[in-house]
Amino acid sequence: MFNFDFYNPTRIVFGKDRLDNIDKYVPTDATVLITFGGGSAKKSGLIDKVKTILGNRKVYEFGGIEANPHYETLVKAVEIVRSKNIDFMLAVGGGSVIDGTKFISLASHYNGDSRDLLKYGFTRIPFNIVGKVVPFGTVLTLPATGSEMNNGAVISYEHGKFAVMCELAFPKFSILDPTITFTLPKIQVANGVIDAFVHTMEQYMTFPVDAKVQDRIAEGILQTLIEIGKTTISEPKNYDARANLVWSATMALNGIIGTGVPQDWTTHMIGHELTALFGIDHGQSLAIVLPALLEVRLEKKRAKLLQYAERVWHINKGSEDEKVDLAIHKTREFFESLGVKTHLSMYGVNADKIPVVIEQLKVHGMTALSETQDLTLDISQKILEQAL
Ligand code: NZQ
Ligand code: ZN
Repeated sequence: MFNFDFYNPTRIVFGKDRLDNIDKYVPTDATVLITFGGGSAKKSGLIDKVKTILGNRKVYEFGGIEANPHYETLVKAVEIVRSKNIDFMLAVGGGSVIDGTKFISLASHYNGDSRDLLKYGFTRIPFNIVGKVVPFGTVLTLPATGSEMNNGAVISYEHGKFAVMCELAFPKFSILDPTITFTLPKIQVANGVIDAFVHTMEQYMTFPVDAKVQDRIAEGILQTLIEIGKTTISEPKNYDARANLVWSATMALNGIIGTGVPQDWTTHMIGHELTALFGIDHGQSLAIVLPALLEVRLEKKRAKLLQYAERVWHINKGSEDEKVDLAIHKTREFFESLGVKTHLSMYGVNADKIPVVIEQLKVHGMTALSETQDLTLDISQKILEQAL
């Protein structure tokens, strides 16, 4: 196992009827900005409930944070924070709203062009660069990204999606009430299952370092998602299935399974380009890339693939090659069983577009990806060809 530091200060308030806890954790004298998305939280009445709980606090609203939140939208909220002296924010939404709120938090007291904050990528933004931040809590409406319990955000700007990470960007608290997610369209639930699955794989499917706890938690999350994935889509109000999805998604990206292990975020990096270029949903982009990546990188990941085959899919018969092939096949089949297509061409993206994707990866510096930084643009090209 590698050396590691682990830090996660986010309070999780999980379960039914927990919304009232907002009153407990938002300072009573705060001037609050509620941030939300395109309208689902308004329509469901959630925003009204939140406002009622906030009681006499001074409350402002900022709606319209779109999926894959755009820098241009978020800077409008930064203006509100500055002009109204907002000192607490409450993000009510999925990953996009929470990520957007993290960016608003970091940018509001930044002295300079806030586009600078998009330049750090996976290198965490140092505290002294950001200075003061606006603290915030979240009410999660879509289980997928883990943003409710991590310090990362993904912000869209021009033709790119940029990772923004800073230890000051952890939510103070997150309300995880699975019943709030019951209104989700089936496709968003499927996207969420896949996002959580792929986050787990990216911290697990590398090479063995004898990290037994991390491996077994990761395998537990993967098996849970396989067990409840179809049910939570077909039975949206099945509380137990949804509760297990919500906690799986949070656990997949709150830092725990990534401690002390190698990580390979290639699927996300290529997936982000597919979303930015062709508007493919985040979860769908991952369902396209991951199976193709496993096929292309089979030799490099052989030891972990075998462990995955045996422990996650319980494949105990056949040769090593057969086990590994079947595990990859089952992974693709699982994504498809959720109603998500796993080939690029099924989204109208054909071979002629591959050079465009490769060019964007190059522009964004994604030329040495993977757990050992040996994944060049040539290999990304092979993965995309495999994904057609
Ligand atoms: O905008 P509204 O009207 O609210 O509709 C949203 C949106 O259209 C809808 N929705 C959310 N909760 C709902 C609901 N509809 C009905 N009922 C509810 N309860 O769902 C749509 C998608 O929402 P979005 O927030 O975009 O989805 P998701 O949570 O999958 O977030 C995706 C974003 O997160 C980033 C992605 O890149 C993408 O920009 N990621 C963030 C990460 C992080 N911070 O750690 C890691 C992830 O890998 C990911 O990259
Ligand atoms: Zn993701």
